[in-house]
Amino acid sequence: ATNRRVEWLFGRAAAKEAVRRFLFKYHQARWTDADIPIWPDDSGKPHPLGPWREHTAAKIDLSITHTSKLIIAAVAANARIGIDIEVLGRSLSDDFTRGVFTHEELELAAHTGEAPTAVLRFWCAKEAISKALGTGIRYSPQDLRITAVDTETGQLQIELLGQWLEPFKQFKGRKNPIHTALFEGHAVATCLLPASLFETPE
Ligand SMILES: CC(C)(COP(=O)(O)OP(=O)(O)OC[C@H]1O[C@@H](n2cnc3c(N)ncnc32)[C@H](O)[C@@H]1OP(=O)(O)O)[C@@H](O)C(=O)NCCC(=O)NCCS
Repeated sequence: ATNRRVEWLFGRAAAKEAVRRFLFKYHQARWTDADIPIWPDDSGKPHPLGPWREHTAAKIDLSITHTSKLIIAAVAANARIGIDIEVLGRSLSDDFTRGVFTHEELELAAHTGEAPTAVLRFWCAKEAISKALGTGIRYSPQDLRITAVDTETGQLQIELLGQWLEPFKQFKGRKNPIHTALFEGHAVATCLLPASLFETPE
């Protein structure tokens, strides 16, 4: 429990730094960590709040992910962002694997030639898109369906199916790109979704 708390704290620190760096880089403005409170919404997605928001036209979205060895926070302007990491070598149980992936997805993973790592990449990708959507894994993870993999670039494609299309109708048929990579002993997935997909029509 102590470790989780430390991870949580470092996650907050990384998130504030990501926002501060953004504001410095694009607005040459210096803000302090105290100016950037991070608050989760009802689904648990963290949002950066504070007075700096009146000084930038950009809508900043935030994502945080942590293991006991690595903590990453990233921000995106005018897009929804979701990032997720898993420690390489972590073994997912057969039950878990069967629950979250379809046969076709597992075959796709096998074809990449990096089987156990590919499965971790795939799981990260599903969590990353669920974080960009802001729901977390609220419905069947099988219905965040991986439909293509580019083994050269690590780019995956995920389509929303089933119950996911109820709150996210606008995603029907959309092939969402997720970037995956290996970094510091982890699989890492990053998902960016254009903010325009979430604008409600007038
Ligand atoms: C949200 C979720 C994707 C987080 O992934 P994880 O691998 O467990 O943990 P990570 O370290 O990568 O991410 C944790 C961070 O995600 C963020 N997060 C939590 N809920 C979120 C949401 N709805 N949307 C976006 N981000 C969210 C938080 O910042 C959290 O860190 P914090 O508590 O320090 O602020 C995942 O826990 C989830 O979907 N949970 C809900 C349902 C569930 O557990 N289903 C299991 C089905 S197999």
